[in-house]
Amino acid sequence: MHLEKRIFSGAFTVRGGYMALNTKKFIKDTINGIKKKVGKQTAICATSGGVDSMVCAFLAHRALGKKLIALFIDDGLMRQDEPQTVAKILRKHDIRAVVISASQDFFKALKGKDDPEDMRKAFRDTFYRTLGSAVKKYRASHLIQGTIAADIRETKGRIKSQHNVLSQIGINPKKYGLSIIEPLVTLYKPGVRKIARALDLPKDVYERMPFPGPGLATRVVGEVTPQRVRIVRKATVIVEKALTRYKPFQAFAVLLHDRATGIKKGSRQFGHIIVVRSVESKDALTATATRIPFKVLDTIQRKIYRQIPEVTKVLFDISPKPPSTIEYI
Ligand code: XMP
Repeated sequence: MHLEKRIFSGAFTVRGGYMALNTKKFIKDTINGIKKKVGKQTAICATSGGVDSMVCAFLAHRALGKKLIALFIDDGLMRQDEPQTVAKILRKHDIRAVVISASQDFFKALKGKDDPEDMRKAFRDTFYRTLGSAVKKYRASHLIQGTIAADIRETKGRIKSQHNVLSQIGINPKKYGLSIIEPLVTLYKPGVRKIARALDLPKDVYERMPFPGPGLATRVVGEVTPQRVRIVRKATVIVEKALTRYKPFQAFAVLLHDRATGIKKGSRQFGHIIVVRSVESKDALTATATRIPFKVLDTIQRKIYRQIPEVTKVLFDISPKPPSTIEYI
């Protein structure tokens, strides 16, 4: 449904020159809309654990009950314990969650690639192939996606590549009868979080920092291997633990392609470099580096050195967006 229709239907009202979101009305209209579209058929919602896709899954579950499958594709590029945590939350709320273990396929597709666009393409192709198989296996008639207004804006601005999801998953919609539903397409992140709170999603979910679709692959510069992902994942746990209380928009670790000399266990080692990235932003379209007290940065570097033997340097990134981007590939 387009923004104009939502305004007329009352989910948005103009207050003090700004659009104010009526969460109750939005939820009611969206649930009714999904019910009407899907009818007695089955829908799949690919859920990453991020707030957008979780809100979609919760809304669709209210509309469809067991006719909704929340699909979690375990690509091996998630944060620590993420697949188990997400499946647990979904199941606790009675949502039919299916986890597909596909990490080997993703690492195979990413093998030998170090160009960012090649990496993104390899990720996307594998993701949509896996999703396409699931859509066929479960005979889904609808695919529910967590696209939000910022995604559309960045696509139009050619910052993100526009993709036709149906052709990507190798399904001819006419032949297969599959259609896409994007319930959040009129909302920006703060609106999505509002809906998440109104839906009683766990605080952990609605306050969760945005996490990119290609996961930790966007934070590994150079070839993405299981061993390199393991390093960045460990460092991410340390960075998130230290910085979550400052409520940054996003805080994470990055593994660079370069190496640098350090001294570990008394001898010189040509080891890995970790970047600590933390940004403030409203909608990810622009961002500035978080002003983290030096003491906190110092604690982070000590923990990284101690807990990750392969790392010999830790850097802090001060770049704003623009000209930089938030992620690294
Ligand atoms: P950049 O790095 O472009 O990121 O400044 C802007 C916001 O988008 C997230 N991001 C992605 N999200 N798929 C996603 O779902 C992607 O390929 C992707 N790349 C970046 C990023 O985490 C930030 O919030």
